[in-house]
Amino acid sequence: MKLRSNIDPSATTAEVRPLNEDEFRLFQRLIHQEAGIFLGPSKKELLVARLRRRLRARGVRSFLAYHRLVKHDSAERVKMLDCISTNETHFFREPRQFEFLEQHVFPAARAAASRPPLGLPARRRPGLRVWSAGCSSGEEPYSLAMTLLDNFANWPIEILATDLSTQILAKAQAAVWPIERATEIPTAYRKRFMLRGTRRQAGKMKAGPEIRSVVRFERLNLNNDTYPSLGLFDLIFCRNVLIYFNAESREQVIRRLLNHLGPDGILFLGHAESLSGLTTLVRSVGPNTYTHAANLEKPGSRSVPVPRSHARTTPGILDEVSVTR
Ligand SMILES: C[S@@+](CC[C@H](N)C(=O)[O-])C[C@H]1O[C@@H](n2cnc3c(N)ncnc32)[C@H](O)[C@@H]1O
Repeated sequence: MKLRSNIDPSATTAEVRPLNEDEFRLFQRLIHQEAGIFLGPSKKELLVARLRRRLRARGVRSFLAYHRLVKHDSAERVKMLDCISTNETHFFREPRQFEFLEQHVFPAARAAASRPPLGLPARRRPGLRVWSAGCSSGEEPYSLAMTLLDNFANWPIEILATDLSTQILAKAQAAVWPIERATEIPTAYRKRFMLRGTRRQAGKMKAGPEIRSVVRFERLNLNNDTYPSLGLFDLIFCRNVLIYFNAESREQVIRRLLNHLGPDGILFLGHAESLSGLTTLVRSVGPNTYTHAANLEKPGSRSVPVPRSHARTTPGILDEVSVTR
């Protein structure tokens, strides 16, 4: 068998040489350029732990050689990014935002659908388009699917779920979890939307056809300069993704997300993510929840009303500092 020149046949079992500071900086730069993710100096050991498997799989002994390899091999770059992404997630994460949806966003959406815009007849077929950006293994988009299908019977619902990692997207599409995870889902939803595995699938739970039919998965790197033509969304969830980005990349992503947020749309971020510096673009309407800044100033705006308690206690999420978990 012919071996490719950059593969050292003895290296798959041989020790990988330790990562030195220069090599770390090369990966820091590459990963930031590719994915927007910033690895601080404390992440050096994490990087080694996550990439060592790839070095062994490709038969290279040093991080410098692996860096050279990924620079020219786009498929390997995808695999490298799969290794470095942090995919922690669960169903109905950040319950305050799900409460906010039910108490404030959904009533506003129903009211908007029944109100004739500009003297025209009310929209006959109202619908909701939602984007779960950085969806990990699917718990977030499927939680949204359950909530939306339960609240909007007969409305067309479309959920686009995207992530950088191809590996995690494959898991999300398979939509199978250990049965223990069922406790994260409200009982009524679990009974209606989830399937319990039997025989060879015993001990597992799978998303049922109703929620699977409204969620579509695609790979999308939020750090790309432009996104494919996705259209406008009523709700965008980009939660616990931007905490790994530095301020500059975070701001660029937020600006691009806002370009895809409908005029009355709502953007949800994770609880530790702040938008300081973007006060001219967005205004807080709920827990780590924003709308276009212009909405709240527009007379007769149909956007979600700011709940009184939130308006009183939160001067604007943009003034908040990040909270730690
Ligand atoms: C911690 S998970 C959050 C999952 C879910 N949003 C939640 O809050 O539970 C972060 C996800 O963001 C994805 N991610 C990281 N950088 C990304 C990028 N540049 N573009 C798209 N997704 C990215 C990771 O692959 C990972 O699945």
